[in-house]
Amino acid sequence: MIVLGVDTSCDDTSIAVYDASSNKVLSNIVSSQYEFHREFGGVVPEIAARKHAENIDLVFLEALKVAQVSPSDLRLVCATNRPGLLPALLVGLTFAKGISYNLKVPFKAVHHIEAHLFSPFIGSEPSYPFLGLVVSGGHTLIVLVERLGRYKVLGKTLDDAVGEAYDKVAKITGLGYPGGPVIDKIYRSYDGDYLKLPKPKVSGLNFSFSGIKSAVRRLAEKGAPTYQLVSSFQRVAVSYLIDKLKEAVKETKVKRVAVSGGVSANSLLREELASLGVELYIPPLEFTSDNGAMVAYLGYRKFLLEGEDSLEVGALARSQIT
Ligand code: KG4
Ligand code: ZN
Repeated sequence: MIVLGVDTSCDDTSIAVYDASSNKVLSNIVSSQYEFHREFGGVVPEIAARKHAENIDLVFLEALKVAQVSPSDLRLVCATNRPGLLPALLVGLTFAKGISYNLKVPFKAVHHIEAHLFSPFIGSEPSYPFLGLVVSGGHTLIVLVERLGRYKVLGKTLDDAVGEAYDKVAKITGLGYPGGPVIDKIYRSYDGDYLKLPKPKVSGLNFSFSGIKSAVRRLAEKGAPTYQLVSSFQRVAVSYLIDKLKEAVKETKVKRVAVSGGVSANSLLREELASLGVELYIPPLEFTSDNGAMVAYLGYRKFLLEGEDSLEVGALARSQIT
């Protein structure tokens, strides 16, 4: 069964073709818009929507070409409809509905965070229960996944997401957008000592990143060297994520952990996770940031569980995974 997955929730236009019968991603095309948002230091929703609209036909044709399938091979069309930047979401959602309507194949709307949550299992089947740590530009949360569709959010950020903190720290220090990859690269090349940054004290499994970000701003204003400052930030941010994850494992006694989202590409986080002593699932780099493959993978499984969605389903800027 050939499945199309579409994601335009933020600043990547992504479409994948997924063969559900063999559990293989046949193509996963991502057109990134970083260069158009860079001068603003973050994503501008209207620019994102315009670029999605300009690119989506080409991304779709490329996804079909690489997968060596034609539109008539598609049996299910899935698209992210929530949460995300509303003007951006609408482009992919409308495009996917059009394909579903014209080809007379079922349509499934997909929750973006839920798609990230399952992305470490693309190409295999999830084992339950597992603890999901989703770390992206818009979200930071720990979820206990009892089975597909049954989730307990154990903790989430009370202010900035960790990726957002990376992006803001990069903006403060003049490193551009997005912040994660450039800070990670600097961290790898830096071998000096570290500045002491405060680890936020939020009880339980919730997170807060605004205090670390403010401390970085104060030190930057006092003239702290950029490489030392951003490397110190990465060290404390990753250590904080690991602390919370350890706490969640201890509390739930679930030792199967799946980490996903743009920040799961981080090299230090990957190193630290590998030495945690848990059964670890983490996506290949291709599926860490926003991608259509995770939408097709989850959309197919939700379709089997719940059936198709009406083409009248709308887009939502905000939505919890419950
Ligand atoms: O999942 P994603 O592509 O989009 C959202 O759904 O938000 O995540 C993007 C975020 C950005 O904040 C970016 O700075 C961060 O992921 N990121 C990283 C790395 N690569 C991307 N953060 C830390 N280390 C990285 N290597
Ligand atoms: Zn995402």
